[in-house]
Amino acid sequence: MKEFIRCAVLGLGRLGYWHAENLATKIEGAKLVKVVDPLQGRAEQVARELNVDKWSHDPMTAFEDEHIDAVIIVTPTSTHAEMIKLAARHGKHVFVEKPLTQKLEEADEVLQVIAENKITCQVGFMRRFDPAYVEAKRRIEAGDIGTPLYFKAVSRDGNVPPEEFIKYSGGIFLDVAIHDYDIARFLMNDEIYSVQSSGNILMESNRLMEKYKDIDQGLSQIRFKSGAAGDIETMRISSYGYDIRGEVVGTDGAIQIGSMRNNDVRIFKKNESSHDLVQDFPTRFKNAYLLEMIHFITALRKGEQPLCTALDGKRALEIAIAATRSFNNGCPVLLRNQEKYKEVML
Ligand SMILES: NC(=O)c1ccc[n+]([C@@H]2O[C@H](COP(=O)([O-])OP(=O)(O)OC[C@H]3O[C@@H](n4cnc5c(N)ncnc54)[C@H](O)[C@@H]3O)[C@@H](O)[C@H]2O)c1
Repeated sequence: MKEFIRCAVLGLGRLGYWHAENLATKIEGAKLVKVVDPLQGRAEQVARELNVDKWSHDPMTAFEDEHIDAVIIVTPTSTHAEMIKLAARHGKHVFVEKPLTQKLEEADEVLQVIAENKITCQVGFMRRFDPAYVEAKRRIEAGDIGTPLYFKAVSRDGNVPPEEFIKYSGGIFLDVAIHDYDIARFLMNDEIYSVQSSGNILMESNRLMEKYKDIDQGLSQIRFKSGAAGDIETMRISSYGYDIRGEVVGTDGAIQIGSMRNNDVRIFKKNESSHDLVQDFPTRFKNAYLLEMIHFITALRKGEQPLCTALDGKRALEIAIAATRSFNNGCPVLLRNQEKYKEVML
């Protein structure tokens, strides 16, 4: 087993900083040796805060640095494909935030370059590492709810990202619902066969999304290869907090994931009881971001494949692109590149 993995974090925005902090302070066997961000002052500031030796405005300096084993790509989605290819060609292992890439052709290219250069790539589907989802997966695999028949998910966020992010995010199905497409495959242990989606801009304050063909509320109806079904509600307009829930209904029961509770405290007053609510993704998935990075570093140290690979990234991307296409043309879309599934009508 390798003693440590020397890492560079590329992109120090909303999420990149958390990955950098985890790598710098909390993960055994990880050494954060460089941070990179083109934004004036950002990399230098983070390097100082986290006691990191090197910082730069230019990701190329990380790819070309022979003292770096792995890069953590947390840059805007539109840059992922190029970053992964450059990293792989320089022999760096890759952790890349979701989505793997923005286009399917890019994903195919990326998979090929990863294979050619024999590097390891993990995609940031952190829900697979969240303790509640992990426990649900364990109970489903133990047969506690029988055969899974229906998957349900709610992903409601009220923190609308800035216009600059919306512009390059690829839209709500690619940027947000993709987490649920991945966790649906993971929990149901099945491939999604078809998707039909719809959506709208429900809040006038989000009208600017129209410019980028984006919406603030979407719904995906999915069918699995086995014939199981599901629905995924996705929105950016939650007024009350960051509300992420999932449910799998099986032949012998159901399992619900997520309580929305922040602190494990309940307040009782005359005729009412209440608890506080999670407000944002860094709070809800704090543990999951740490656990997925521990998994990545451990996999590299042991020379093992991670649980969530570039192929998983491509599968989820296929579904997100099909959902976007369905939203645009109003028809169900069958997933490409999959062996013949049994005929299922939406
Ligand atoms: N897994 C999750 O829950 C989750 C949550 C949020 C974001 N994300 C993903 O993480 C990625 C980044 O999202 P974010 O919200 O942190 O975005 P952000 O806009 O807050 O931050 C992106 C950062 O990357 C920097 N950057 C831009 N081009 C760069 C380049 N060429 N090299 C290095 N840095 C560059 C920007 O200056 C900025 O600081 C996106 O792909 C997004 O989909 C995932």
